[in-house]
Amino acid sequence: MDFSGTVILAGPAAPVHLNRAGTRVFGTLALQSWEVLRSGAGTLAEFVVLGSDAVALVPDKLPLAEAAGLSAAGQTALKMCDVAGIKPGRGQRVLVNGGSGGVGTLACQIVRAMGAEEVVATCSGGNVEMVSGLGVDEVIDYRAMAPLPDHLARTYSDRPFDVILDTVGIQALYEGSPSYLKPNGVYVNVGALEGVMWTFWCWAKNALWPTILGGTPRRYVMFSTVTNGRSAEKLADMVETGKVRVVVDSVFGMDAVLEGYDHLASKRAKGKIVIKIQMTDPSTPS
Ligand SMILES: NC(=O)c1ccc[n+]([C@@H]2O[C@H](COP(=O)([O-])OP(=O)(O)OC[C@H]3O[C@@H](n4cnc5c(N)ncnc54)[C@H](OP(=O)(O)O)[C@@H]3O)[C@@H](O)[C@H]2O)c1
Repeated sequence: MDFSGTVILAGPAAPVHLNRAGTRVFGTLALQSWEVLRSGAGTLAEFVVLGSDAVALVPDKLPLAEAAGLSAAGQTALKMCDVAGIKPGRGQRVLVNGGSGGVGTLACQIVRAMGAEEVVATCSGGNVEMVSGLGVDEVIDYRAMAPLPDHLARTYSDRPFDVILDTVGIQALYEGSPSYLKPNGVYVNVGALEGVMWTFWCWAKNALWPTILGGTPRRYVMFSTVTNGRSAEKLADMVETGKVRVVVDSVFGMDAVLEGYDHLASKRAKGKIVIKIQMTDPSTPS
C-alpha cells in the first residue's frame, strides 16, 4: 500500500504544489478501497494512480527509500499517540511494546515528538542497540525478561505507565496491565501477532467485557488506520524538523520481491522493508 516516487501526470484539480512532473511524493493507497484489494492494484508497480488527498511532498533531504517506509506505519503510530491523548506538559510515561518494528520504530520517536516525558520500549536482544538510538529512555529485552508482564509488574508497579502502545498485539500484556498501567491509563493496540481471529475476539472482549464480570479494569483501544495525505504531511514535518527518522531494514529489487515478503513474514524486520521498482518503460502513460 505504501509508496514513494515522482509525479508523472497530474489531473486538472491537483493542487499546485503537487501538479508538476518530477515532484517527489509519498503516501499510502487507502486499504479501505475494496477495489484495490480485489484487483491487487497495489503499489508494487511502476505507475500508481491515486487522489492528491492521499499524498504529501517528500521532505528535501529524505531519500525516496526512507519516504517509502514512512507513511502507513507512521500514520498508525501518529494515530496511536492521538487516541492515547499524548500532549506536551502532561508528564506522560509511555511503554511502546515492539519498539523495533516498522510501526514501533516510528511510535518510539513520534510519542516523544508529541510530548511524552518518558518512553520505555521493548524488543528482542539483537535490536536493543538500534531501539536505544531512537531516543527512548529505557529498552527492555522481552526475551531476557520473560514473562514480560511479570517483569513489568515487578519494575513498574510503584510508577505505572500512563499509556501503553502495543505494536505487536500481546493479550497477556493487556491482561497484566493493572499491575503497571495507571487506573485512568489507556492501552492502545494495533498488532495481531497472535492471529487475526484471536485478536478480533480479544478486541471485542477487552473493549466490552465489564470489569464487574471479570474484565481487565483498564481502557483498551484498537483501530484500523485510515490513511490520508494530511497525516502524511505531519510526518513529513516531523522528519524535516529532525524529530523522526525512518529506519530502513533492507531494500530489495523487484527480482527479489518474494525474499522481501519472506523477511516481512519472519516478523524479525528491524524497521521497514522497501522494494525498489525499476522502470522498464520510461515513456509517460496516457
Ligand atoms: N491497525 C492498524 O491500522 C495497523 C497498521 C499497521 C500495522 N498494523 C499491525 O501492527 C503490527 C506491527 O506491524 P509492523 O509493520 O510494525 O511489523 P514488523 O515490522 O514486522 O514488527 C514486528 C515487531 O514485533 C516484535 N515481535 C515479534 N515477535 C514478538 C514476540 N513474540 N513478542 C514480542 N514482540 C515480538 C518484533 O520485535 P523483535 O524483532 O525485536 O523481536 C517487532 O518489533 C502487525 O500486526 C501489523 O499487522 C496494524
